Amino acid sequence: MSPLQSQYLDINGYTTTLGEMRLGDSLEFLESEDGHALKESVSTIVTSPPFPLLSEKAYGNLEGKEYIDWLCSFAQPLREIMKPDGSLFIEIGNTWVSGEPAMSMVPLKALMAFAESGNYTICQHLIYHNPARPPGPASWVTAKRLRLKDDFTHWFWLGKSADVRADNSAVLKEYSPAMTRLLDKKLDTSGTRPSAHKINGKNFFKDNGGSIAGSVISIPNTGWDNYHRWCTNEEIAAHPARMPFDLARFFIDLTSTTGDLIFDPFGGSNTVGAAAEVLARRWMTVDLESQYIAGSLGRFADESGTLPIDLKVSRANG
Ligand SMILES: C[S@@+](CC[C@H](N)C(=O)[O-])C[C@H]1O[C@@H](n2cnc3c(N)ncnc32)[C@H](O)[C@@H]1O
Repeated sequence: MSPLQSQYLDINGYTTTLGEMRLGDSLEFLESEDGHALKESVSTIVTSPPFPLLSEKAYGNLEGKEYIDWLCSFAQPLREIMKPDGSLFIEIGNTWVSGEPAMSMVPLKALMAFAESGNYTICQHLIYHNPARPPGPASWVTAKRLRLKDDFTHWFWLGKSADVRADNSAVLKEYSPAMTRLLDKKLDTSGTRPSAHKINGKNFFKDNGGSIAGSVISIPNTGWDNYHRWCTNEEIAAHPARMPFDLARFFIDLTSTTGDLIFDPFGGSNTVGAAAEVLARRWMTVDLESQYIAGSLGRFADESGTLPIDLKVSRANG
């Protein structure tokens, strides 16, 4: 079977009981009647727009000012669908200057222009660190050994104001072995640290179920799962820039609760829809490419490649 023969390549979307992925341009969707119907209803947007890369990804990308203007065109329409206390997590990837061991300022300028266009508050600047990222960019990192491996991306947590709904106790991290020992032994470590911070060691007596997560989020983006199995069986190319499932899950858990609505305008392999589904949130995602939507069905398939009965595929030809 050639890649063009997958039975799902004429897909133009699908629904589950909780959500919908739709084929199309998300700006057109946001400006449509269905998009307007979402006004002030979305709790959390998690999205990774195409980056202003120098080498083209399969789905294309713009450069420089053209990229910034394009990204900014989403700022207001996304704001309009957010609840007053909703959150928007947006990934801004790193880009390198062509032919030089130097980083481009376009991604950061794009973030600033986007935040200004939508009148967003930056609730927090987060770093996603991928410890499994292969060394790159190759010319400067592996060939000439002039730079360090580029293994993180910026994520900006934006709100309509600083008053967003959030609960960091929903995303606790497992205690470190040292902290577990303190809790077990109930050691009083009170005192003033060399940094002059006064520590109430009795705080360490209470087990809060885990430690508070930091703003550097480290998750390896690897692994063979039902998504890959599905893409291989259907002979559909896996999406080239998937976000880690656990990262999407983290943002959704942090800022929403059961039944809330989650949105991703650049759905790709529908990591966000699948994470929302697992967390019993409603969800809506959009992508321009039917092959990515066909591949994303694999996020809902079981190990044998069977789709759940509540998942309804819609096709271009009815
Ligand atoms: C970085 S990828 C997102 C990957 C996704 N987060 C995942 O985990 O698979 C960006 C996606 O945006 C889609 N895209 C680009 N422009 C779009 C537009 N105007 N409307 C909808 N999707 C678009 C591309 O097809 C691509 O799949």
